[in-house]
Amino acid sequence: MEAEGRVMVGTYARAPVVLSSGTGCKLYDPEGREYLDLSSGIAVNALGHGDPDWLRAVTQQANTLTHVSNVYYSIPQVELAKRLVACSFADRVFFSNSGTEANEAAIKFARKFQRFSHPDEKKLATQFISFTNSFHGRTMGAVALTSKEHYRSPFEPVMPGVTFLEYGNIQAATELIQCGNTAAVFVEPIQGEGGIYSATKEFLYSLRRACDDFGSLLVFDEVQCGLGRTGYLWAHEAYGVVPDIMTLAKPLAGGLPIGAVLVTERVATAISFGDHGSTFAGGPLVCNAALAVLDKISRPGFLASVSKKGLYFKEQLIKKLGGNSHVREVRGIGLIIGVELDVSASPLVNACRNSGLLILTAGKGNVLRLVPPLIITEQELEHAAEILFKCLPALDKGNLD
Ligand SMILES: Cc1ncc(COP(=O)(O)O)c(C=O)c1O
Repeated sequence: MEAEGRVMVGTYARAPVVLSSGTGCKLYDPEGREYLDLSSGIAVNALGHGDPDWLRAVTQQANTLTHVSNVYYSIPQVELAKRLVACSFADRVFFSNSGTEANEAAIKFARKFQRFSHPDEKKLATQFISFTNSFHGRTMGAVALTSKEHYRSPFEPVMPGVTFLEYGNIQAATELIQCGNTAAVFVEPIQGEGGIYSATKEFLYSLRRACDDFGSLLVFDEVQCGLGRTGYLWAHEAYGVVPDIMTLAKPLAGGLPIGAVLVTERVATAISFGDHGSTFAGGPLVCNAALAVLDKISRPGFLASVSKKGLYFKEQLIKKLGGNSHVREVRGIGLIIGVELDVSASPLVNACRNSGLLILTAGKGNVLRLVPPLIITEQELEHAAEILFKCLPALDKGNLD
């Protein structure tokens, strides 16, 4: 920890713990201290740590071929794209290395789509709509779509042309889309970083209709809520509304860096050779790992078990935490759950860590974000709820000032 403070650029306020190994939903520090992991590397380790099938896919592929660049064809990449196309609304896939890069690609695809669709138009639709409490990443395009000012303002000018509207405000969104200058609307069906807020069906449906009527693209950012976390393979399945573009990342390769942009044929038609690219993206190693993740998540009963465990955990949380005067709401779907407090959640997060439970915050720091590995057991969830309950007094002690 001391060396980190000397040699690393100080971008992270880390918790004072070194994690050196993990198995299933358990993590260990170098002294062998055990932690129950309800953070999953920020909603990444969907299969927990060291899943044997994932491990086999990674080691076999590493022994065969790790990287070749996109100058050549490679088999796991095309296999993964085939799988993603087969199980989604999309016709084609572009791979990236992270969530922010997936959104960056989606921004470029939306701009190119508008140019391609209206080659003679003098006033192209180049603007973007994003929403309050959104998080889309940290690069100059994605951060421009991210609502928290504190992430954007030190780096301005970021990408211009983004309007933030209230998440869920149908009228404001419809009116702005009607102006006809919106290239794309970026929305998380369930907001993660922003505080675990779920869209309504009416909201997403209205966005879809307005985009269809006025030529804008609808982009669902499922980087955090996608790939089984809600108990649906894609969070938008819960709403019956499909996007033109969907961005994915976090859990897709079970802990290795990957991102993906899934698009319809109509969008893909606008993209030509050289419009975008990446040296690392879609390499054989990460794609073979992702195939192992998809295999597991697609097993019969897997998604149903996520829904069941999510309901059980919410029940436990309401029972154990609901009576505390600081707890305002327990919300979320499947295994993306938020507990909103009327005070900072940090003292509780710290107390839980000292008691062997790793959890995250979200929103303005007053929401507990619970995103366990999807393979967690009901017993482990019960244990987590019990630790949270026992640590509740920390909210009073830690928030005295
Ligand atoms: C919804 C959403 N989009 C994009 C990102 C950015 O992903 P990455 O950190 O992989 O760049 C995140 C990360 O938290 C996210 O939650």
